[in-house]
Amino acid sequence: MEKVLVLDFGGQYDLLIARRVRENGVFAEVLSYDRITPAEIKAAGYKGIIFTGGPNSVYGESAPRCGREVLELDIPVLGICYGHQLIAFLEGGSIKPAGNASEYGKTTVFAQKCRLFEGIPEKSVCWMSHTDYVAELPEGFAVTAFTEACPCAAMADEARGIYGVQFHPEVTHTEYGKAVLRNFLFGVCGCTGDWRMDDFIEKTVEKYKKELAGKRILCALSGGVDSSVAAVLMHRAVGDRLTCVFVDHGLLRKNEGDSVERVFRGLFDMRLIRVNAEERFLKKLAGVKEPEEKRKIIGEEFIRVFEEQGKVLGRFDYLVQGTIYPDVVESGKGDASTIKSHHNVGGLPSVMDFDGIVEPLRELFKDEVRAVGLKLGIPRELVMRQPFPGPGLAVRIIGDVTKEKADTLREADAIFREELEAAGVGASQYFAVLTDTKSVGVMGDARTYGYTVALRAVTTDDFMTADWARIPYDVLAKASGRITNEVKTVNRVVYDITSKPPATVEWE
Ligand code: XMP
Repeated sequence: MEKVLVLDFGGQYDLLIARRVRENGVFAEVLSYDRITPAEIKAAGYKGIIFTGGPNSVYGESAPRCGREVLELDIPVLGICYGHQLIAFLEGGSIKPAGNASEYGKTTVFAQKCRLFEGIPEKSVCWMSHTDYVAELPEGFAVTAFTEACPCAAMADEARGIYGVQFHPEVTHTEYGKAVLRNFLFGVCGCTGDWRMDDFIEKTVEKYKKELAGKRILCALSGGVDSSVAAVLMHRAVGDRLTCVFVDHGLLRKNEGDSVERVFRGLFDMRLIRVNAEERFLKKLAGVKEPEEKRKIIGEEFIRVFEEQGKVLGRFDYLVQGTIYPDVVESGKGDASTIKSHHNVGGLPSVMDFDGIVEPLRELFKDEVRAVGLKLGIPRELVMRQPFPGPGLAVRIIGDVTKEKADTLREADAIFREELEAAGVGASQYFAVLTDTKSVGVMGDARTYGYTVALRAVTTDDFMTADWARIPYDVLAKASGRITNEVKTVNRVVYDITSKPPATVEWE
């Protein structure tokens, strides 16, 4: 299988580069610069190497640097930003602080003919983010692009297939960034682009077959996309040595628990333990109104359930987690103020005694996880499922949570989702919220005093920001009519027309 090595020097875009490479049908592996030797690179048969960017200056005391030997392996190299400067440094050029000439953001770049810039216009827009620049070229290199402030925005030693670009071809702001990477992969490295998701599956299964031979593995299954795909993938690798525990806290959507059971036990014949814990969760939540308090209680109760299961099932060597690349990026952001404490199964590793964590989807983006899920044969409804918070309906029931309220919300939510889907309305996430407002209504000739349900539907790319979905009035009318008719305790329906920010997607 042809593959390219993304050698990471501490940049924030390492996995994005890998993703861009994979989009071209070439497998990319990301490794930190100090985790692989030149001999290992050679032996692994990489078709090309990409040096990532990074926040350091090449002359800095603790600057991450690989040996010059990496450039002598007869494998094409593309250095990006810091990687570009590192190539110049290793080859004997010099790097200087750009001072006032530092560039950040969209910049006009003038490119010259070379294999890397094949088919790219002489003048285009690229994304720059640097405070140093290559001041003196190493021997054998020629300048292949410049900007107004940067005399060496790109350089090349065409004969050796070694290229450096000061700008970031992997970000979408660089107009011809994709073409630059394509030129490197196909024009310079000679890749054919025959890698498919199947290869990812095969490779991951092989890897864990070896690494986890004879080990017992636990997976906390939530029924969401990521943990489901991780579980089925690991099941392929270790079979019955994988046990999935699915905690039904009684705050799932209508029929959700049964459908999880049907897929994993029925379709895949996996060892699945469903813990029906509705009663104990509701007991813990009784009378609690504060959103963060609810999240904390549910998170802790999850851990208690797992601890108890651990006592019954015996010790597991590894825990599988459905961590995906955006989670990795999110958790790398330091202590940005907590808006909501997102709860999945983050607390498990600290209270249960595992040898380690297995995160088979760590390098994948959501759309790639979905592609893997479909290839593994997981039903489309599950793979395409919209996000659902770990604390479930508890954060969609405003105020205290009771079984009666959860049942009411489940019905209203199912109707709303059914109507949107029937009408083919495209939204990224849509659900119902049970407010804690009751209001007066009239049904037949009688007065009613019932719950107000709020409908929420948003469009978003990344869930960091979102807009409320412009659902046609007649679809809203139908959903509202059905909810007030079919769900006895509800007599009023409102539609939430707030974007994020200032609101959040969920109400709590
Ligand atoms: P907010 O409400 O913060 O939600 O705008 C953004 C996205 O995250 C989902 N969400 C969660 N997902 N565990 C999760 O896995 C949680 O605790 C959680 N809380 C919110 C929310 O549904 C939306 O898609």
